[in-house]
Amino acid sequence: MKDTITGKTKLLGLLGHPVEHSLSPVMHNKGFQNLNLDFIYLCFDIKEESLNEAVQGLKAIGVRGFNVTMPHKKTIIQYLDGMSKEAELIGAVNTVVNDAGKLYGHNTDGKGYVRALVEEGISVKDKTIVMFGAGGASRSISVELALAGAKEIVIINRTVHKAVEICNMLNRNIPTCKTQAKELNDENTREAIERADILINNTSLGMHPYEDQCIIKDENLLRADLIVSDLIYEPSKTALLKMAEKKGCKIINGLGMLVWQGALAFELWTGKKMPIDEIKQKLLKERMHL
Ligand code: ATR
Repeated sequence: MKDTITGKTKLLGLLGHPVEHSLSPVMHNKGFQNLNLDFIYLCFDIKEESLNEAVQGLKAIGVRGFNVTMPHKKTIIQYLDGMSKEAELIGAVNTVVNDAGKLYGHNTDGKGYVRALVEEGISVKDKTIVMFGAGGASRSISVELALAGAKEIVIINRTVHKAVEICNMLNRNIPTCKTQAKELNDENTREAIERADILINNTSLGMHPYEDQCIIKDENLLRADLIVSDLIYEPSKTALLKMAEKKGCKIINGLGMLVWQGALAFELWTGKKMPIDEIKQKLLKERMHL
């Protein structure tokens, strides 16, 4: 956002329900301000039954694009003119670009996650990864990990059929990556962690206000050479990350993914790189408890 909103200022925004706690406006508007870009980013609380009207309205007023969050990441697809290959595989869209009246869907969630790992000096190439949870986050992250050359992905979930579904999709489309789907129990957890280089928690266990919950029950399953990553960024150190830190593991929380999924969307809309370090500082200031 420039100092003044003018007749030329372009609109971007977030469609979701609820949206009032989103950090995306803070992130994007800070980026526009830093780079003196003539955009403004707002949140729109859109219920499921109003999505079509909202999308047609945004198209009619000629927005540059928008983000999409729960509960619209899948249902948005029917209103789009095209999609990236990754978004198609993931079956969900979080970023839409309006190119001369045509709406194109992208998914920057998984790509943002892999990018955040790269920034930490971690390559996923030839790595064995164990992932807990089989919701939307696991789906988008697993596609990008497989595309980035992961050797094997083991998905462990309470509802095993959801893990099987993701693995089948990966096997069909990215056969270079081996997969295994397992039900969440002590034995499967132990076996998978033993062979893993990277552990990722994509479940909601440990998220504020349930900070005492943890997907791993026995800290002795963790070794110092295991990288432990939690998608949760609030609290900044979940019970899982505290346990992993105590065991000497490298730990990574969800802040990097949050920022990088935004940065990739920012670049799709503006063609410019988001100033990552300033944005991280701004987010940390906004949420002192992050
Ligand atoms: P997201 O889109 O962020 O991935 P989601 O689709 O709601 O969110 O997925 C949440 C994941 O956390 C699911 O894999 C869920 O397991 P189920 O598929 O069995 O529901 C997992 N999860 C949530 N609460 C859990 C709990 N108490 N124990 C184990 N897994 C849990």
